[in-house]
Amino acid sequence: MVSIDTYDACVDFPIFDAKSRSLKKAFLGAAGGAIGRNSDNTVVIEALRDVNLHLNEGDRIGLVGHNGAGKSTLLRLLSGIYEPTRGSAVVDGRVAPVFDLGVGMDPEISGYENIIIRGLFLGEGRKSMEKKMDEIADFTELGDYLSMPLRTYSTGMRVRLALGVVTSIEPEILLLDEGIGAVDASFMEKARIRLQALVEKSGILVFASHSNEFLAQLCDSALWVDHGQIRSCGPVDEIVGAYEGPNAAEHVRGVLKDLGRL
Ligand SMILES: Nc1ncnc2c1ncn2[C@@H]1O[C@H](COP(=O)(O)OP(=O)(O)OP(=O)(O)O)[C@@H](O)[C@H]1O
Ligand SMILES: [Mg+2]
Repeated sequence: MVSIDTYDACVDFPIFDAKSRSLKKAFLGAAGGAIGRNSDNTVVIEALRDVNLHLNEGDRIGLVGHNGAGKSTLLRLLSGIYEPTRGSAVVDGRVAPVFDLGVGMDPEISGYENIIIRGLFLGEGRKSMEKKMDEIADFTELGDYLSMPLRTYSTGMRVRLALGVVTSIEPEILLLDEGIGAVDASFMEKARIRLQALVEKSGILVFASHSNEFLAQLCDSALWVDHGQIRSCGPVDEIVGAYEGPNAAEHVRGVLKDLGRL
């Protein structure tokens, strides 16, 4: 069984070179987590505060919230990239993070080789990646570029490669960050279809996004992250409505109706 459980999980980023004299006390702006101080008086950004999250097989949850609310930090915590500063995060299952597109990629080796390396990073075997290679190559539409070193790729071309790999595997826990938005519109549509198939295969999805349309398409419920804390959790239309207002909620319901889910 796959599961995600966090108990009062906090993530702080100590900032040793902050110009502390000019810091306002207990600053809480429109963007970012709270800026405070830890017990040795070091300035810290409080990216996540007392997060309690319990997810099981079949959960498809969207993360909404302002810039710097803590969505990406939460995904990184769940992927094991960050350790909680306090509290705990227990993740049971094979995790495929789709956000740090640089991770597991080497700029000096070819696209083909990077497909293998990234597959290994996501827990696949070399043989299984070799079997999937043609299909992944087709999907990326990168053609002869796949023989070129990755450093010659544009941002969107890298994202295509990373999406091709990640959508070819069967992760138990899929963590998706919006950063994948760098690809062009026609490719995004193709990627969306494949992502949807991937989401159906995976046990748990956690997806951070500012696109209500995407959230409605991929998720059943949503979590509002606000200044590092979970503010509320519930059906996508309800949470989007609480966060952005009734028009946004109506938009979500429209998408759900089109999909036959409402
Ligand atoms: N590596 C880091 N070092 C220091 N602070 C960080 C780091 N990463 C994130 N933060 C801070 O943590 C807080 C949460 O950032 P995070 O990237 O999780 O937000 P987000 O909800 O993903 O925002 P966005 O919608 O802009 O992607 C912000 O205040 C940010 O300044
Ligand atoms: Mg983010």
